[in-house]
Amino acid sequence: MRVIIEPDYDKLSQWAARYIARRMKEHERSGGSRPFVLGLPTGSSPLGTYRELIKLCRSGYISFRNVITFNMDEYVGLPRDHEQSYWTFMHRNFFDHIDIDPANTHTQHGTAETEDKECTKYEEMIAESGGIDLFLGGIGADGHIAFNEPFSSLSSRTRVKDLTYDTKVMNSRFFGGNIASVPSKALTVGVQTVLDAREVMILVNGHAKARALRHTVEGGVSQAWTCSALQMHRRVIIVCDEPACGELKVDTYRYFRSIEQANLDPSSL
Ligand code: GLP
Repeated sequence: MRVIIEPDYDKLSQWAARYIARRMKEHERSGGSRPFVLGLPTGSSPLGTYRELIKLCRSGYISFRNVITFNMDEYVGLPRDHEQSYWTFMHRNFFDHIDIDPANTHTQHGTAETEDKECTKYEEMIAESGGIDLFLGGIGADGHIAFNEPFSSLSSRTRVKDLTYDTKVMNSRFFGGNIASVPSKALTVGVQTVLDAREVMILVNGHAKARALRHTVEGGVSQAWTCSALQMHRRVIIVCDEPACGELKVDTYRYFRSIEQANLDPSSL
């Protein structure tokens, strides 16, 4: 696991976007026609990264023409054109501002007639695309990744999940503060779906996420903190800001700072 500690949210977002851009470029240069497959989250955490990626795309540095995306999750019951659907979120905040072919973007259908079929189909589509090259994600204050709430199976795949009361309270800010308007269920990729990606990058900002970051980095692997399953992945990068590090041990903090500093040292090249 790498932990990148940036001073603030803007720097974190810049670091994450540049890393993704570099990976896309490397993929392009490696030849072959297979598209780069990107897993994407919603929420406030990735907004800055999306803004930076849009800038990089508009300045001609990167292109999404050969990129396929799969979103992590979608609320059950919300049609795509609903103000708060994750489909709308992705178009408004990202897809409408880059050169991606909308046919290459995927989110689960929240109004699918047979939810189980929709979930199976989603996993199949990911497999058919060649698997996810880089899964970008955020975490909830209770450590959930996508909508894999506490005590979700760590070997889960795309399925329907009930949302916890805490998550509904958190997300009610997008529904005029009305908890009753927040859907009770979501279609979400599983923890294993995320772990199957070739690489995972998780954005963690702000003091409210400090406890979740501690469990992600220092805790034992446990279904109580689904983020802790990331410790089982070979290639995970956590990009966080200083406030999110508030609950890490001083030694842990120093370790990751010093090891990344060494990476930047030109004499190590
Ligand atoms: C939701 C999403 C998660 C996201 C989490 C944190 O529950 N399903 O993918 O990581 O919220 O959101 P935020 O980034 O707004 O803190």
